[in-house]
Amino acid sequence: MIKSKIPTNVLTELNRQLNQELSAAHAYLALSAWCASQNLKGFAGFFAKQAGEEREHAQKILRQVLDRGAVPELAALAAPRQSFDSLLAVVEHAQVMEQANTQGIHAVYETAVTARDYPAQVLMHWFIAEQVEEEAWADEAVDRVQSATCAGSLLDLDRHLEKILGTDKAG
Ligand SMILES: [Fe+2]
Ligand SMILES: [Fe+2]
Repeated sequence: MIKSKIPTNVLTELNRQLNQELSAAHAYLALSAWCASQNLKGFAGFFAKQAGEEREHAQKILRQVLDRGAVPELAALAAPRQSFDSLLAVVEHAQVMEQANTQGIHAVYETAVTARDYPAQVLMHWFIAEQVEEEAWADEAVDRVQSATCAGSLLDLDRHLEKILGTDKAG
């Protein structure tokens, strides 16, 4: 067995964040299902794609943990929130989640800085920039759903969601 090159406290943080990313994937799947149940196909597809991206984020962390001689620790995931009163509640939930995820990323980074663990710092640079984009589309989604005052404009927003929030932003 190769000895881990990751400082213990950084490894703890990487594992925590790895599981946070998997929880986010789980949560987005639930948001996607709720939207699909309301025939909001644009939002359903958008959140399904987000779920896939959160899994990729988890993979990135998992990869570094393995490459540096440690075994990632997968935790049990809590059931995501699945009932919502409105689409606004859904996008607000996504917004709060992304803000919490940013806090998680920053916590990993701060630990890596204190421990002078450069590989984890560089990995987190990608995540820090990613979270700026994630929060931007979440903020825009909340704003646009708030502005869609009638049922017709909500359906219009749903239909054009991919174009509006875009693949470039929701990356
Ligand atoms: Fe993520
Ligand atoms: Fe995210």
